[in-house]
Amino acid sequence: MAKVILLSGSPRKESNTMDVLDVCAKEIEKNGLDAEILSLRGMDIKSCIACNKCVEKGNCVLNDGLDEIIEKIRVADGFIPAAPVYFGTARGDIMAALQRIGKVSRGTDDFLSWMVGGPIAVARRGGQTLTLQEMSMFFPINNMITVGSNYWNMVFAGHERDSHKDEEGIGTIKLFGENVAKLIKKIKN
Ligand SMILES: Cc1cc2nc3c(=O)[nH]c(=O)nc-3n(C[C@H](O)[C@H](O)[C@H](O)COP(=O)(O)O)c2cc1C
Repeated sequence: MAKVILLSGSPRKESNTMDVLDVCAKEIEKNGLDAEILSLRGMDIKSCIACNKCVEKGNCVLNDGLDEIIEKIRVADGFIPAAPVYFGTARGDIMAALQRIGKVSRGTDDFLSWMVGGPIAVARRGGQTLTLQEMSMFFPINNMITVGSNYWNMVFAGHERDSHKDEEGIGTIKLFGENVAKLIKKIKN
């Protein structure tokens, strides 16, 4: 069965980003695909050091656990990274992870090619659109296919477990998840 990996960049245990990804994953599953949520929580994600060792080794040699996440993305059909907004842009760890994931894909077998997805941003009050723009750069350069919804993939939530209160944002995420699943099914057929 086709599968979508959803990756949270939040360090919090009671995370809004995780809750939003849970909504998205459920919608993907409702539409007949597998979905697995992964998280950078508790990890100490390093930035790419441009060593180019991924080209010869086939994966990232930085020893912080990201290579296990990369192996799961490698065999997936969809990829949805999600970030909490920190000072108007994406939390650093998710951008460091995306840069390394992209570098490994381009340095090895282009596993991101034709993968379907798009970014999600969660914030208390502002910065989601710039965060989405920042994360959006990852998709076209890796020959990926991004999917729309009825608004940008942003949710307003500040306190822990607040995201359900943004009904419009949650509706956008549900439609996005449904669209990702539907497009993957069309591509696969
Ligand atoms: C260091 C830091 C910076 C933040 N910067 C912003 C910001 O620029 N705009 C905003 O609306 N919320 C900001 N927030 C609030 C978080 O985006 C918000 O609490 C969000 O729900 C966190 O998602 P999470 O629960 O998945 O970690 C910031 C939080 C932290 C810890």
